[in-house]
Amino acid sequence: MEKTVLKNKNGLKGTITIPSDKSISHRAVMFASLAKGKSVIKNFSKGQDPHSTLEVCKSLGVQAEFLDDTTVTVTSDGILRMPAEDLDCGNSGTTMRLMSGILAGQNFNSVMIGDASLSKRPMKRVIEPLSLMGADISSVDGHAPLRITGRKLSAINYDSPLASAQVKSCILLAGLNAEGLTTVTEPYLSRNHTELMLKYMNADIKTQGLTVSIAKSIIEPREINICGDISSAAYFIAAGLIVPYSDIILKNVGLNPTRTGILDVVKFMGGNIEILDKKNVSGEEVGDLRIRYSDLTGCTIEGGIIPRLIDELPVIAVLATQARGTTIVRDAGDLRNKESDRIKAVVSELKKTGADIHETEDGFIINGKTQLSGDAELETYHDHRLAMSWYVAGLICEKPVVIDGFEWAGISFPEFVESFEKLS
Ligand code: S3P
Repeated sequence: MEKTVLKNKNGLKGTITIPSDKSISHRAVMFASLAKGKSVIKNFSKGQDPHSTLEVCKSLGVQAEFLDDTTVTVTSDGILRMPAEDLDCGNSGTTMRLMSGILAGQNFNSVMIGDASLSKRPMKRVIEPLSLMGADISSVDGHAPLRITGRKLSAINYDSPLASAQVKSCILLAGLNAEGLTTVTEPYLSRNHTELMLKYMNADIKTQGLTVSIAKSIIEPREINICGDISSAAYFIAAGLIVPYSDIILKNVGLNPTRTGILDVVKFMGGNIEILDKKNVSGEEVGDLRIRYSDLTGCTIEGGIIPRLIDELPVIAVLATQARGTTIVRDAGDLRNKESDRIKAVVSELKKTGADIHETEDGFIINGKTQLSGDAELETYHDHRLAMSWYVAGLICEKPVVIDGFEWAGISFPEFVESFEKLS
């Protein structure tokens, strides 16, 4: 599907509620599937990725019933069943990587498959630590399909070379069902939704600095209220800051400190952003954000902040084209392993709009402020975050921008255009 985006001349105005967090939605369904009894998940994501997880869990014998659009009950006897068919993870890396930690320790075999993009993404990062725990997983040179022969697992102490929540969560989920105490240490702190939710469901899990430990535990069903996704809010944060005359309020935004790197960067760049009405919901911090058009200055984004804003980097690149001076993003080489090679794609597509942007091995360099010309056709490369970032770029381009494959936005945020239209 092609989408044409026109310049917004009057500014974004008004209030919207940010829809459900994708990362938390995946975990809610997976963990509810492992708990004996009925969990109620409120504000479950409408995105295709969390629905891939839900379908995978249903194929493993778990019952799920929608009470309305976004409220789903998950009923399980705490034991998963051998699936009749291959488990289709669609486009979702989180589904495949976290489920591999769950499936490796079962007493049955399973196969996980994915779409063309997911089948290109590296899975060795989970196969290696799981193998150290005794798992038997075969792959096509480190890629899906993953064929898992269920086995009893034993605990490990794993020093992860990557600050990746998917890797950390995979090992913790394997550890939940392994004999002994499993520990994972990461180089920088990645998102900790797994730790918070497993704790909320009564698992024996502890965090100390960059190390998380988990002992074999039985988890309990819960009511889980999912907050709005700061990664979805990021498109509105960026647009509010760079579309002249904008003044918007985003309600129900998840503010878990392992995810708020974008707020730190934007404040550092001079963005006018206020946090209103902060509270705690189901173990996660949540608040409303007010964003106003701002005069921005470039900055360097590197090191420990990268995992705290990894999914926001494409839209931060769009934002940086409107900041005075140079913005440097480095230490973000794993962006090449996302739904697309996001470094290459961000540079090639933003160049088409007139941005002054250069590729580096582990990031990009942007010089601003540039009036983007637009008049370009931008590719999404099967990547939802690129589709939505190009839309934001389109709002400030002189001439229309045509986005090819805009339907990919539905992977995480099917309500995206509707929400923007409410503010226009
Ligand atoms: C996610 C973790 C991040 C992120 C992805 C979702 C998660 O990936 O990019 O969109 O839900 O755990 P990595 O853990 O590979 O960095």
